[in-house]
Amino acid sequence: MSKNCAKNTTACVDSDMTPYINAVRAYTAARAVAPRCFVLTFGCQQNVADSERLAGMAASMGYVITDTPEQADLILVNTCAIREHAEQKALSVVGQYKHLREKNPDLIIGLCGCMVAQEHRRAELKKSYPYVSFTLCTSVLYRLPQYLAEVLEKGKRKIVGEEEHTVAEGCPVRRESNYRAWVSIMYGCNNFCSYCIVPYVRGRERSRAPDDIIAEVKGLVESGYKEITLLGQNVNSYGKDRADGYRFPHLLADLDKIEGDFILRFMTSHPKDATRELIDVMAAGRHIPHSFHLPLQAGSDRILSLMNRHYTREKYLEMISYMREKMPDISITTDIIVAFPSETEAEFEETLDVLRHVRFDMIYSFIYSPRKGTPAAAMEGQIPHDVGAARMNRLLALQNEIADAQNEKLVGQCLRVLSEGESKTDPSTYTGRTDQNKIVFFTDPAREGEWVTVKIERAAAFALYGTKVNKA
Ligand code: 5AD
Ligand code: SF4
Repeated sequence: MSKNCAKNTTACVDSDMTPYINAVRAYTAARAVAPRCFVLTFGCQQNVADSERLAGMAASMGYVITDTPEQADLILVNTCAIREHAEQKALSVVGQYKHLREKNPDLIIGLCGCMVAQEHRRAELKKSYPYVSFTLCTSVLYRLPQYLAEVLEKGKRKIVGEEEHTVAEGCPVRRESNYRAWVSIMYGCNNFCSYCIVPYVRGRERSRAPDDIIAEVKGLVESGYKEITLLGQNVNSYGKDRADGYRFPHLLADLDKIEGDFILRFMTSHPKDATRELIDVMAAGRHIPHSFHLPLQAGSDRILSLMNRHYTREKYLEMISYMREKMPDISITTDIIVAFPSETEAEFEETLDVLRHVRFDMIYSFIYSPRKGTPAAAMEGQIPHDVGAARMNRLLALQNEIADAQNEKLVGQCLRVLSEGESKTDPSTYTGRTDQNKIVFFTDPAREGEWVTVKIERAAAFALYGTKVNKA
């Protein structure tokens, strides 16, 4: 950690990394053709944001960013550990890179992110993936120049689980989009939900300084970014590690004061920390769309307690009522886990009851996946996969009906949409998202990042369909 930094938990990328950046630059500059770097991302938006920093750092050291692994000289795989499936996918892709390394012995493969923070995964990489050169945990991603320089200089592997209680400022960022940006406001998680691996692989909560966040958002708005999403594992606990009482509602209110043509989203929230004050800031906001992602996880109080979530179904429902009272047009989405250890049929029904009561606009649902080292993985009553899959199907069938009906209410309305340009599946159609974050398909052309107004003519559970109209 830098001694030059004003705050003892802040790493200054410039001063800490300069010698390594220079060493890698010397290597890339000496090559007849600029080396290429391919970054592959698994997992959540936080990982997408982290990958934008990995690509930014690689580009700043002389790598050309490529979108195919075949020609790459550096491959960075940013991994996810949230469920077993995510880890298996990453390992399988890395397995396919073996032949690339055989063709190009200079190829450097680095595995970054959540999966490699687990000792058993590093042991597996050490033994069975000899062509992986280094592992880089999330809290030290800013040390990419150092890891690369060491591997290049010493020619030795660096399979380590180094972690720091750090907020790194000053990393170059190579953003994927020129109208939609991710801004991490904090890192890590202190909640230890009993099923979740995140606190073990991303460390304790560290909040960025408000001034750094405000400066970044201002810069993005000035460069024409239209949608800015604030990221954190639990944004509602932003600032709890600060002594001055400055918390998430204050940050959101301050960001909302920025002048410009943009919207401000945030994720993810935790029902135990989401406050009425936050809802009031949203309701009064100028740039904050009426859309809220509030993970419920389960509808039974016994399961919520086993999950270590620290709220009851009643408290959750109260928060939803307050949101709807203040913002009647709000769209609400959630995360649900089915088949948590010992969940009975009746307890699963309680989750369905909450769905019927709240009428979420969308849910992200998961079958419980045991994570090594978490309390839930050692609980009695692990549920067979086929029971989990059957519960998931019932959950989705109910949610489809609800989402259909929720979206049907929007038919006939003219909604503001941030265009994402041509649809990837059908180039004759254009797509975008409403302020309430619903996907819309429309026929008339609109550039990426352009605001359009769309008259909704038809609705389905997952999308709306309509025609572009002139702005009123
Ligand atoms: N199994 C299944 N789903 C999980 N999630 C987190 N950990 C697990 C797990 N072990 C889900 C939660 C969380 C979302 C990001 O992933 O619903 O909100
Ligand atoms: Fe995992 Fe819970 Fe932290 Fe979310 S709040 S990252 S579910 S431990």
